[in-house]
Amino acid sequence: MEKTSPALSQIFEPIRADLELVDREFARHVESQVELIPTIGRYIQTSGGKRVRPAVLLMAARLGGYGGDRAVLYAAVVEFIHTATLVHDDIIDESELRRGRMAVHSRWGNDITVLLGDYLYIKSMALALSHDHLDIVRVLCDVTLRMIEGELYQLTKNGDADLAEEEHFDIIRRKTAYLFGGCAQIGGMLGNVTREQEQALQEYGFNLGIAFQLVDDLLDFTGDLKALGKPIGADLREGKMTLPLIHLLQHDRGAAGRIVREIIASRAASDEQWDELLQLLKEQRSIDYAYRCAGDFAERAKKPLYTFPPSSERDALLALPDYVLSRDR
Ligand code: IPE
Ligand code: IPE
Ligand code: MG
Ligand code: MG
Repeated sequence: MEKTSPALSQIFEPIRADLELVDREFARHVESQVELIPTIGRYIQTSGGKRVRPAVLLMAARLGGYGGDRAVLYAAVVEFIHTATLVHDDIIDESELRRGRMAVHSRWGNDITVLLGDYLYIKSMALALSHDHLDIVRVLCDVTLRMIEGELYQLTKNGDADLAEEEHFDIIRRKTAYLFGGCAQIGGMLGNVTREQEQALQEYGFNLGIAFQLVDDLLDFTGDLKALGKPIGADLREGKMTLPLIHLLQHDRGAAGRIVREIIASRAASDEQWDELLQLLKEQRSIDYAYRCAGDFAERAKKPLYTFPPSSERDALLALPDYVLSRDR
């Protein structure tokens, strides 16, 4: 990216105090007499997630004119949901590293991690129900169900080198975009926004979420393990086709198909295979294509925000899509 985009901490500066409260809320709600729950809860909480979803909710609430303290609670709820997904996702993906540390299942085993994820999911809904705002609970259930559908649908397509672009988009909309959309929408619902503005916020988050996942998938090729805190090249080894590979197989009639299928079949990539794959991605400009696509969704995210009058809150939300495109973690 030629454009230098602001650091995340800079974008989040106006809501820094609230994000700290979200962390406190998170810690408070993993308290339990079963010591394992706060222990793992603290392990997750201190592992340095970006907190993008709670931040979107908090910033959208401000944009909607909401000044009360419930935004912090719902922001903690969406981080709980996200965290539950990650601990389960790492079991499914057999991914040993998360946020630069051992994944929860690598450290505590699958049995405990499944239950801990369940605990976080139900806890998130219990927390959301502590206020009488059933519309918000409905949105939370809806986006969480879509996320699980996305993970399940992805599993049914696992190992399929012929995955179509539209099927792939269906997966990422469900597994990532709806939750982002819900975060922005809930922020609006807390405030005093019109039905159209609530919809505009959902659209913002939804498109931001697609860009976010496209870039996550790109970082699996272009990223650095140390910055990213999770393994590189893992998606294909796990049998997951992502946009750069789908583009590559559409355009390369030579070795690409064979290499991709070999890696999927053996669930491993030699250095030679990986280098050759990267070379082919470069030749067919498949990485550029996927970045362009992410860029389109980032722009699509910004548009609905212009239905709101200019403000520093709007600027913060507008800056996030650019950050997402340039992020390295
Ligand atoms: C990772 O999400 C899962 C995806 C949807 C790509 P994040 O990149 O937001 O993870 P953390 O919370 O910052 O670790
Ligand atoms: C994101 O998918 C997980 C969900 C949003 C459900 P990934 O499998 O790409 O996430 P990472 O790469 O493990 O963080
Ligand atoms: Mg994963
Ligand atoms: Mg990923």
